[in-house]
Amino acid sequence: MARQFKRHDRSDIFIHWFNAACWLLLLITGIGLISNPAIDPLGSGYPEAMRSLVGGGANLLAIHEVIGFVWILGFIWYLAVNARGAGFFLKEVFMVSPARDMAWMLKKMVLMTLGPKPLKMIGVNPELPKQGFYNMGQKAFAQASVAGGVVIAFTGVIMFLSDKTFGAEATGIVSWAVTLHFIAVGVVFAGLLVHIYMAAISPEERPGFRSMFTGHVPENYARHHHGLWYEKVRSAPENDG
Ligand code: HEM
Repeated sequence: MARQFKRHDRSDIFIHWFNAACWLLLLITGIGLISNPAIDPLGSGYPEAMRSLVGGGANLLAIHEVIGFVWILGFIWYLAVNARGAGFFLKEVFMVSPARDMAWMLKKMVLMTLGPKPLKMIGVNPELPKQGFYNMGQKAFAQASVAGGVVIAFTGVIMFLSDKTFGAEATGIVSWAVTLHFIAVGVVFAGLLVHIYMAAISPEERPGFRSMFTGHVPENYARHHHGLWYEKVRSAPENDG
């Protein structure tokens, strides 16, 4: 078997798929809570069907809130069991090397849509600059999902409390919470469409997809897709297995 490189711990894999499952359930229930025909993304039949499925809007809201709290607790658990992994993830995601990463991003977008020709025509080398543990596309999505996730959780808790304890003086804060909750979901969801395409459908990323189950990627993939990371870890003994 080709030499394998460790990319994800078991707890990293768990939190990723746990997060994906929560997102799916929160979207299914959350969209069902929208009862404004002007902004209802799936038509008003969907919220009605969801509400009657669970015995009314109040039940649907309660289910959405429970899933939201389970989601937050999942991340608290992850931070408790793998604070080092979380720290590594945040450092890798938020450390950007502007010249290298922006060049990667711009070239990648041209290569994926038009191919190498336009770059060659203007005298630009189409080879992508080497990337670290994550490439700039992954970093951009991860930054949006971390920041978006914090906003969604925070505003969700404010909305939950507003039903129980807040008085009329909090109306302004609650309206902001509702608006920011929607915006953050929209931004992360837009990135998610690209993320799912790149991670699960695009054939060249297949080894990365498998690593989200096995935790490892083959040497060739590490060298070609994450050259700077490969150079750092290629002599580490834990990557010999
Ligand atoms: C069907 C759904 C999903 C699939 C197939 C999927 C697939 C993957 C794969 C294969 C990776 C590993 C990339 C690598 O290490 O090279 C990954 C990483 C990641 N996923 Fe997902 N994912 C899904 C849903 C989600 C959701 C819902 C979120 C957050 C809202 C998310 C956030 C992330 C983040 C932040 C990373 C690390 C950075 C990156 O690789 O972009 N994923 N995902």
